[in-house]
This record gives sequence, structure tokens and C-alpha cells, in this order.
Amino acid sequence: MGNTRPFDKPIPDSPESPFPIVTDFCDIVSGFGRGSAELGIPTANIPIEQVPEAARDLEQGVYFGYCRIEPISKEEHTEPRDNHRDVEYNYGKYLDESNGDFEVLPVVFSIGLNPFYHNTHKTIELHIIHKFHRDFYGARLRFSILGYIRPELDYTTKEALINDINKDIIIAQRVLKSEGYTPLRAQVQ
Ligand SMILES: Cc1cc2nc3c(=O)[nH]c(=O)nc-3n(C[C@H](O)[C@H](O)[C@H](O)COP(=O)(O)O)c2cc1C
Repeated sequence: MGNTRPFDKPIPDSPESPFPIVTDFCDIVSGFGRGSAELGIPTANIPIEQVPEAARDLEQGVYFGYCRIEPISKEEHTEPRDNHRDVEYNYGKYLDESNGDFEVLPVVFSIGLNPFYHNTHKTIELHIIHKFHRDFYGARLRFSILGYIRPELDYTTKEALINDINKDIIIAQRVLKSEGYTPLRAQVQ
């Protein structure tokens, strides 16, 4: 499949080992809060210890797959966050079936240290390619890892990072629509 950037790895016509990797339901926790606010690209953060070892062992980089979200029934509450807006944990109460929020959705995500932000521990941050009306902190999500797009890079500007994530989104959408990948939606059903 024709990728455009020098650092992009060719993506095979269907997943190759160690993919696919499929997770159980994981908690959606609050990250540093930069995704939406600074980048305009909301991310769902997953505690790394909840994903299979095969996923934790992957090299730092940008990956794609499918995901499905599930609300849990728990009282909403607000948690303070250092230096950022408080986080409303609503456990997915406002997810909207008529908006397709519960369908299997394409996802592009980074596993790594976010060199641009100088993080010191490994994180998994998923950008779900779907337009949600509300946040859903505290809901659960299971996802598959079907392939690798590129290494994590350090950027000199936020705009360059945003630009590359937008390209990642286009690549993931294209691959996930191809016949070697669409049947794997069932893995997260
Ligand atoms: C598809 C995707 C690709 C990313 N690529 C990079 C990258 O190459 N370098 C980097 O420093 N961070 C990368 N990130 C991480 C973003 O910097 C991160 O999502 C953002 O800081 C928001 O994090 P927060 O919600 O924890 O604040 C990527 C994130 C996603 C979803």
C-alpha cells in the first residue's frame, strides 16, 4: 500500500506476526490532557499494565486497529488533575447509540514515551476515528493491534506533530477499509 513519508513502514495486505494482538476491556483513564486541548486530537489513555504482554513489548511507535467501547454503570464524579482542567468521569453514560458510538471503530494509537512531551513512562494513547459528542472517561474499551505505521518521533513544533497524526489517520482509514483487514472487526465484537 503506497505510503508517502520516508519513515513509514510498508503495511502488508493482511496482518503479519506479531499481529493481530487483541486486548480485553481496558479502563479509559485521564492522560495529561494535552490531546484535546492543545492538539485538537482527543486521545483515550489506557493503563499499560492492562494490555497483553505482547503489546507492552512492541517497539515504540504508531499502530492501528479496531476498537469497541462499553459504558460501565457507576456514579459520575469529577477528579482534579494537576495543572489542567478537572476530569469528569462519567463512565460512558452519554455515549450515544444513534451516533454509532458502540460500533466497532477504527483506531490509530501511539505506544511510547511521546518524545515531543518528554514523558518518562510508556503510555498507550488511542485516537478513535469517530466523532463523539461527549467525553467518556471511565468507560471501557477493547482494541486490536493490526499493524505498525511509523516510529514515534520528536518534533520541533506542535503543528508538525498534528500534521503527522492526521496522516496516520488517513493511512489507518485506508488500510482498515481493505479486504485483508475488514473481517478482523469481528475480533473486538
Ligand atoms: C496516532 C498518534 C501518533 C502520535 N505520534 C507521536 C509522535 O510521533 N511523537 C510524540 O511525541 N507523540 C506522539 N503522539 C502522542 C501525542 O503527543 C499525545 O497523544 C498527546 O500528547 C496527548 O496526550 P495526553 O492526552 O496524555 O495529554 C501520538 C499520538 C497518537 C494518537
